[in-house]
Amino acid sequence: MANTLETLKLALHSLRQRDAKRVLLGVRNQIVRSSVSIGLRRDLSEPFVGPAARVPLLVREVSPSEVTAILYSAALDGSLHERRDREVRLAHASEKLGRAFIAYAAESHQPCFIQWIMSAADNPRMKRFFRGRFPPLKPEEVLFENALTLPLFRGLGIMSCAMSRIAEIAAQRGFRYGLTFVAESNVASLRACAKAGFSPSVVRRDRAICMGLLRQRRFDPLSPAAAASLLR
Ligand SMILES: CC(C)(COP(=O)(O)OP(=O)(O)OC[C@H]1O[C@@H](n2cnc3c(N)ncnc32)[C@H](O)[C@@H]1OP(=O)(O)O)[C@@H](O)C(=O)NCCC(=O)NCCS
Repeated sequence: MANTLETLKLALHSLRQRDAKRVLLGVRNQIVRSSVSIGLRRDLSEPFVGPAARVPLLVREVSPSEVTAILYSAALDGSLHERRDREVRLAHASEKLGRAFIAYAAESHQPCFIQWIMSAADNPRMKRFFRGRFPPLKPEEVLFENALTLPLFRGLGIMSCAMSRIAEIAAQRGFRYGLTFVAESNVASLRACAKAGFSPSVVRRDRAICMGLLRQRRFDPLSPAAAASLLR
């Protein structure tokens, strides 16, 4: 009995410790929240053979309403991450900003992947929607954003294959440079972008102070050594 009580006390104590840590972390994040993203770039005029996915894919442009329908019917695992990922893409679709593409399985016709491209024509609306997260695009540049592989299809090499195909389409439409930004912690996306021929070129550092009342953002070029170490 004494042992059980001790165990219970210990369990309660560690629970309180963990809660306290979580609360402190939450408070600290409200005071200063930092994030680092990597900007990757590709010269679309250079010859490039994209990797194949483990599922044969077809890629086509879709309307914002098609994207919305796909996102609503996609099976999610119910986690906060998944729900947030979907909300972000639904907001993008409802903004009707840029051009959306899907990759779908050639055999089953099931949609697997979504990604948008945006061009200089979208600069004013991008500035408002993304609140300056991206530098204004030049006429020859195209930004790849909001990639999502639907959960059932992850780990099949779909992002790198689909992104390469979308890059081909962008090149056919006359764009010379492809750009994209990926959170430094998003290893899967960084690897997939690299396989799609994109190389790290710039680092973006964001700081939100006092619940976002004050925001700081800087873009710095990435040294070749730092770029190489990211993809190791
Ligand atoms: C990021 C994301 C698009 C990757 O899609 P995917 O089609 O599963 O990617 P791939 O199968 O092409 O995998 C890419 C690489 O990452 C690796 N990878 C996958 N998950 C990983 C993980 N959790 N940690 C480390 N590497 C991982 C894969 O092994 C693969 O590397 P390899 O080809 O060298 O083996 C997908 O995980 C996703 O939709 N995540 C949520 C939304 C998101 O983060 N979007 C990107 C915004 S920039």
